Amino acid sequence: MVTCSAPGKTHLIGEHSVVYGEPAIIISVGKRAYVSAEKAESVKIYAHDINESGVFSISELKEFAETLQQLWANCFETKNFVPLYSLLKNEHLGHIKAMIAKTMAELDINAPFSLKISSELPIGSGLGSSAALSVAVPKALSELFKNTLTLDEINQVAYKIESLAHGTPSGGDNSICCYGGALWFKKGTPNIIEPLHLDFTLKNFVLVFTRIPQLTTGELVSNVRSLDPEYRDLRVNQLGMYTYEMRECLAKQDFTRMKELMNLAQELLAELGVSIDAIDRIHTAVKEINGGAKLSGAGGGGYMVCYHEDLQLLEQTIKKLGYVPEQVELGVEGVRTERK
Ligand code: PMV
Repeated sequence: MVTCSAPGKTHLIGEHSVVYGEPAIIISVGKRAYVSAEKAESVKIYAHDINESGVFSISELKEFAETLQQLWANCFETKNFVPLYSLLKNEHLGHIKAMIAKTMAELDINAPFSLKISSELPIGSGLGSSAALSVAVPKALSELFKNTLTLDEINQVAYKIESLAHGTPSGGDNSICCYGGALWFKKGTPNIIEPLHLDFTLKNFVLVFTRIPQLTTGELVSNVRSLDPEYRDLRVNQLGMYTYEMRECLAKQDFTRMKELMNLAQELLAELGVSIDAIDRIHTAVKEINGGAKLSGAGGGGYMVCYHEDLQLLEQTIKKLGYVPEQVELGVEGVRTERK
């Protein structure tokens, strides 16, 4: 049996604008998704957190991968991914089945196996639950079938899996879950992916869960895309400028400006329509005590990332609003083999 894991992530800045080619600063978090694989008589999937399982034939999975790829191409053409999202939502174990089917197609796996999936990352909450699995699944299957892939190759497969789940993702989430640490990520041909050494800043952050988003990442990204282009691009470009400035701030350890930039980013994300009341309330309260607070990931709820030099004051402020600040290790190792 092989067990592999990959971490989740938080966006310090740059979510949504990263989809349009602006950079993002993304940091891995110490909550992981685990995938255990072993050879078996048929393809068996067990998703521990939702207590769901399924048995599939290899031909069924190969066909599913082809159907999804065709559907993705049609959706890309029409710029409407709703048919793809509906298929995945309505299919038993849809998203997980898609990850596995796509990995089998990409790695040319023709032998059966059983796969057990469990995760410390809440689903669809801005911490990269799907990206972590998109990385851990190909890693585990490549280890099991001795088709050992490089990190870059795993990341490429993970991006293809993420595209099936989210339509046109930036590739930032799968990259941070794959490489770990903290990354400067800019989508392009090729993507720019640079490690950032932020050890000194990774204390005094807390993560705060607000509520389960009612929309998926793909749906929230589509909503931003359907805004008036002039209105949207102004904010996207501003987010990009703040992200460049954030990189300089981190290098100079200018935490005052770092917090301001987090707050400014939050306000722009709210203008893009991806914030909710709870996030706005926490943001306002943390800003009033001279901290920084913003949503993390696609928004619509999910997690926030907050910073203050006085951690106790930050935690008290968040608790007073009825939310639970979570101190989570940041900048952890990327995808890895746990057991062989
Ligand atoms: O909410 P998450 O963890 O899926 O993060 C999405 C980040 C976006 O920038 C909104 C989308 C992307 O593809 O980068």
